[in-house]
Amino acid sequence: MQYPLISTKAARFTESVIRGMSIEAKKYDAVNLAQGMPDFPAPQILKDAACRAIQDDVNQYAVTWGAHDLRHAIADHAGWHLGLTVDPETEITVTCGSTEAMLVTLISLINPGDEVILSQPFYENYWPDCVLAGATPRFVPVRPPHWKFDPDELAAAFNDRTKAIVLCNPNNPTGAVFTREDLEPIAALCRKWDVVAITDEIYEHILFDGREHVALASLDGMHERAVTVGGMSKTYSVTGWRVGTILANPTLTKTFRQIHDFVSIGAAAPLQEAGAVAYRLPRAYYDHLASDYQARRDRFCKVLWEVGFEFDAPEGAYYIMAGIGPFGAVDDVEFARRLVREIGVATVPGSSFFQDKELGRAYTRFCFCKRDATLDAAAERLRALRVIV
Ligand SMILES: Cc1ncc(COP(=O)(O)O)c(C=O)c1O
Repeated sequence: MQYPLISTKAARFTESVIRGMSIEAKKYDAVNLAQGMPDFPAPQILKDAACRAIQDDVNQYAVTWGAHDLRHAIADHAGWHLGLTVDPETEITVTCGSTEAMLVTLISLINPGDEVILSQPFYENYWPDCVLAGATPRFVPVRPPHWKFDPDELAAAFNDRTKAIVLCNPNNPTGAVFTREDLEPIAALCRKWDVVAITDEIYEHILFDGREHVALASLDGMHERAVTVGGMSKTYSVTGWRVGTILANPTLTKTFRQIHDFVSIGAAAPLQEAGAVAYRLPRAYYDHLASDYQARRDRFCKVLWEVGFEFDAPEGAYYIMAGIGPFGAVDDVEFARRLVREIGVATVPGSSFFQDKELGRAYTRFCFCKRDATLDAAAERLRALRVIV
């Protein structure tokens, strides 16, 4: 029975499965390949900059929409990396992680009855974001091996009630990278139906095999209706710093800044100073980041294929949505539970990324943002899988 003091909105929420798996991982001393957080150090230059800022007494609230120097560094980075001309004075909001960025964006845009298009599978926060913002999510499937939209299915989802589409590119959990050719039809639908395109580009620098990141906002006619969400978590291996970004035209940004001010006031001031150093790192840093992740991907894909999982190598981000059918598994939650308890590796059951849970039963998601030693330890344990499961 629902506790009478809890709102009906809150009552729709359950524990995050991903964080729940991290708790199980601790309990069973398992290698944690569930939650997407690196176990290797952040760049020394960023840590030094953060310590320096604290020692210099950058201890009070920054400007609510982001410290001046950080916004200018973000704009420079968006210029060369995303091909966007962004005015740091009017088109950037710095938030507490991209998690707050997405929520602020949706709260700012949604009226009761508005629909938001989400891919299915989707990053697990988007559904709660829609609930909190009062949006009705409308799911459009993406399917393996490429995990891209069927153009007709996507077009059929747009209607007079559609307010926004949320697209994660590069994609968590599928590893798909949406190319310019993939994005053009989405942009065309947004223009046709007067819809806002919200892209979660938190993995913007983690692409493999020479793929290039394309920001939906950089396509023709999208400046007025594109919102680019991102942040420091993944690019600089600082998921705990909680610095996120929203890039959008001045009219939208004005509203985002107002809502953000009331939600969190601002991201941690000394870490914003370090962020200004981060966004100005030379391009070689980003090249290394991508090639290091590609090496991790190759190392770990090989192991999973050898063990018997079914999937195509991801094109970007740092996850593998692996088919568990070859192990005779029919229930993803049961499989993930056995994996963490008996094999000692924590993953996320595929159904966590689906509204229609049945569609996710055949998968479990691994993340590979880990040191070689961690991936090797997981590999050693996984090799026992055939025997036990
Ligand atoms: C697609 C996606 N968006 C957002 C986030 C959260 O990012 P942040 O740490 O900036 O809140 C994650 C974290 O795993 C993610 O995978």
